[in-house]
Amino acid sequence: MRKKLSRIKNFKLNKKLVCLTAYSKPIAKLLDNHCDMILVGDSMATAFYGMKDTKSISLNTIINHSIAVRKGAKKSTVVVDMPINTYKNLEVAKKNVSEVFKRTKCDAVKLESNGKNFKIIKKLVELGYPIMGHIGFTPQNKKKFKPQGLKKIEEKRLIKESLEIERAGAFSLVLECIAEKTSKKITNITKIPTIGIGSSKFCNGQILVTDDLIGISGFKPKFVKKYINLKQILNKTFAKFKTDVISQKFPSRKNSFI
Ligand code: KIV
Repeated sequence: MRKKLSRIKNFKLNKKLVCLTAYSKPIAKLLDNHCDMILVGDSMATAFYGMKDTKSISLNTIINHSIAVRKGAKKSTVVVDMPINTYKNLEVAKKNVSEVFKRTKCDAVKLESNGKNFKIIKKLVELGYPIMGHIGFTPQNKKKFKPQGLKKIEEKRLIKESLEIERAGAFSLVLECIAEKTSKKITNITKIPTIGIGSSKFCNGQILVTDDLIGISGFKPKFVKKYINLKQILNKTFAKFKTDVISQKFPSRKNSFI
C-alpha cells in the first residue's frame, strides 16, 4: 500500500496520472490495465443508482461496491469516496474511515473539503490513513453547478485551501471544475499531485466518471469527452436479442442441452 502511494507522489514531476471511477469488479478489472488510480466515487449515487444527487448514498453501499472493486483491481491504487456526513467530526470520521479500510482493503479514502475540515484530515493522516483531498465544485456541499476560481478572490481562497490540505498531509488533491489559470497555479504551488476533472490539462493527472466517458450515464457536461456511445451499441444489442427470442432464433441447438 505504501509503495503504491509513494509512486503516486512521483507524478508531480514525471508523467500524468490516469484515473477513472469504478463501482463493480468487471469494470475495475478492465481499468486495472490502464489506470494508476481507481476511485469508488459517490458519483455512483447518480450514475449507478439513479439518485438525484450524491448526498443520499450510504457508507455501507459504498463499502459493498468497494469490496467488489478491490477484487478486480490488483495493480491500481483504490481510493474510496467518503459519503456526506461520514466525516462531519473527528470521532465520526475515525470510526467510519477505520471501517472502510478494514472492510474494503482500499489504499486510500477521499474527503471533500468544506474549507474547514483540515484538522480532521490531519488527524486521520497521523493515525496512518492515506487521504486524498477534493476542492473546487464539491457536490456534497454545493447546490448549483458553478465553475470555481474564475474570480481573483475565489482563486486566492482555492490556493489557500490547497495548501492547507497539503499541510494536513493529504497525498493528492482532486480539482473539480476549477478555472484553467487557477488549476495551473495550484498545481505549480503544491507539492502533492493534482488530479483534474473539468480543471484543464494543467493538472498532474485526470479523472472522469467512467459511465460518462463510455456514454451510458446520459450526463454530458462540457468537461466530459465521450469516447464511445455504449448506450447506442447496447440498445442495438438488446433489440437484436428481442428479435431473436420472438423469432425463435435464440436459443439455437448450440445453446441447448441435447
Ligand atoms: O464521486 C466521484 O466520482 C468523484 C469524481 C468526480 C472526482 O468524486
